[in-house]
Amino acid sequence: MLDANYWNELYAKGETGWDKGAPSPPIVRMLREGVVPSGARLAVIGAGRGHDALEAARLGYRVTAIDYAPLAVAAAAENARQAGLQLEVRQADVFALQGPFDAILEHTCFCAIDVARRAEYVEAVARAMVPGGTLFGVFYAHGKEGGPPFDTTEAEVRRLFEPRFRIERLRRAADSFEHRAGKELEAVLRLSSSGS
Ligand SMILES: C[S@@+](CC[C@H](N)C(=O)[O-])C[C@H]1O[C@@H](n2cnc3c(N)ncnc32)[C@H](O)[C@@H]1O
Repeated sequence: MLDANYWNELYAKGETGWDKGAPSPPIVRMLREGVVPSGARLAVIGAGRGHDALEAARLGYRVTAIDYAPLAVAAAAENARQAGLQLEVRQADVFALQGPFDAILEHTCFCAIDVARRAEYVEAVARAMVPGGTLFGVFYAHGKEGGPPFDTTEAEVRRLFEPRFRIERLRRAADSFEHRAGKELEAVLRLSSSGS
């Protein structure tokens, strides 16, 4: 069962092969591009040890790093402390996300949840953002069976998000980590209604 215990156990055993010890290159580029202006209230969901969240804080975003695995939250808080960065680190479930946020950063969270809950994910992120808010980041489209990480496709992202979001950008990232090259869809999705 994919729950906080499942993920926490992986952190406890050090089985965290997804963690490259650094922020995701396409996400750093998007932050630097300003797909959301610096200073925005930004939630980093499924934040793990916080590498993307710390980078966003470094660049001037008002960051809340959210994860439900206690060991991930503890590591993110410690990394923030060591880096001398101000950000909120919150232990919480993405499906009960409390906003309001101007933007939400997606990186290896969507692929970590049960596939049957993807429509619920769309509603949770939409509910937690201001109207016109932005969901951005990368979706993992690796083309393999099973998971986590669970595969997605450009067609599925469009089908799930288009009812609620304007799809401003959805394309293969050209600067992914080497082992994910060609398998990440970089996305900028603007919320068209608050959903409440
Ligand atoms: C594959 S890891 C990625 C972590 C981080 N984004 C990274 O790239 O290093 C997925 C993370 O999402 C968290 N997660 C999965 N489902 C969640 C949920 N429903 N609410 C909060 N966190 C969740 C897990 O605890 C785990 O830390």
